[in-house]
Amino acid sequence: MSNAQQPTDPVKKGLEGVVAGSTAISDVDGQQCQLIYRGYNIDELVGKASYEEVSYLLFYGKLPTRSQLAEWTRQLDGGRTVDPHVLDILKQLPIHAPSMALLRTMVSVIGCDDPQAEDEALESIQKKAIRLTAQTVTLVAAIGRLRENNTPLPPKPGLSHAANFLYMLHGEEPVPVLAKALDAYFVLLADHGFNASTFTARTVTGTKSDYYSAVTAAIGSLKGPLHGAANRKAMEMLEEIGTPEQVEPYVQRTLADHKRFMGFGHRVYKGADPRAKHLKDIAKSLGTTNETKWFVISEKLQDAVWNAKQLYINVDFYSASLLHYLGIPTELFTAMFACARMAGWSAHILEQWADNRLIRPLSQYTGPRGLKFVPLSERT
Ligand SMILES: CC(C)(COP(=O)(O)OP(=O)(O)OC[C@H]1O[C@@H](n2cnc3c(N)ncnc32)[C@H](O)[C@@H]1OP(=O)(O)O)[C@@H](O)C(=O)NCCC(=O)NCCS
Repeated sequence: MSNAQQPTDPVKKGLEGVVAGSTAISDVDGQQCQLIYRGYNIDELVGKASYEEVSYLLFYGKLPTRSQLAEWTRQLDGGRTVDPHVLDILKQLPIHAPSMALLRTMVSVIGCDDPQAEDEALESIQKKAIRLTAQTVTLVAAIGRLRENNTPLPPKPGLSHAANFLYMLHGEEPVPVLAKALDAYFVLLADHGFNASTFTARTVTGTKSDYYSAVTAAIGSLKGPLHGAANRKAMEMLEEIGTPEQVEPYVQRTLADHKRFMGFGHRVYKGADPRAKHLKDIAKSLGTTNETKWFVISEKLQDAVWNAKQLYINVDFYSASLLHYLGIPTELFTAMFACARMAGWSAHILEQWADNRLIRPLSQYTGPRGLKFVPLSERT
């Protein structure tokens, strides 16, 4: 055992600052406040590359050529349909359970249903990854519709990934500006280094467990309010504030109660989250035609929290008003994050699989030692 592995090394609580592995998929540069996908700054991609192109980039390391994109889109189109008997299982679940719990369960169901689930060949994992990335939007839209007592809709061939989701949720094809907004959201949230859910997926893959188990675990990790559920909590915060006049009293109350502002702060970025400005621009453009107040409250809150605590907004803050403006129910917000992150999780699972070593850190034991066993009859 080398010195670096001695359990006496100082513990980095929350693994802060620990480099836990290497990846060529994305770089979260906390000092420069940049996010890089396979060499491209996201500023370079957003608004130019579609989620289809970006998911291909994350999987294969290069932007697709025209023919590669056509083939990739064909594969996504072909994979997006969820088998009716799988949807029947969704209908049996308590539909008002958290949408992330439903999604987590349904990914597990799809895994049980796939005869190739245990096939370890890289090409087989790739096929599963493409299919599940495509199917996730269908599952989330179905969850959204069933919660409103509506029948799930099958995907419409020829629509983009983002447009298909909005179509399957709302029952009508979205106008291009809305599909483009969701597409940009998907691009911006597609990957983010070794964030908690991606690291979870890699840890599960590290044991050589199957693709579906890794994604199921990742969904469980994203579900937490310190990670993906912050977008839902941010919307609930805006709703609690209700009017621009209530922003300042809310900030004072939150500070006095030592509570957190959802959608603010970040472990890695030392300045502004590079995704936030794009999401803000999109939310602003959607807000001018529809319920401006959510954007107005958000902007006022951003300034007030900065003045009070010098906290930067993160990816989840303007995701909240953006998703709301797309007519997506707040309860589905974290599942939307999962739809976007499917490409990143899948790329990381494939990367981990291709060059695997079990992920198994040490822990510092802080309990007692040397205790003597006391029989049950003598314990007090
Ligand atoms: C993202 C987050 C979990 C990072 O946490 P972290 O790196 O572990 O940082 P800590 O929790 O140690 O916080 C450091 C300090 O900043 C404060 N802080 C961080 N985020 C804060 C927030 N959103 N609201 C209020 N204070 C916050 C903490 O209270 C702490 O202050 P203290 O040292 O005076 O106690 C944290 O910023 C947070 O809880 N944000 C809200 C949830 C969220 O938006 N999550 C999405 C992340 S993309």
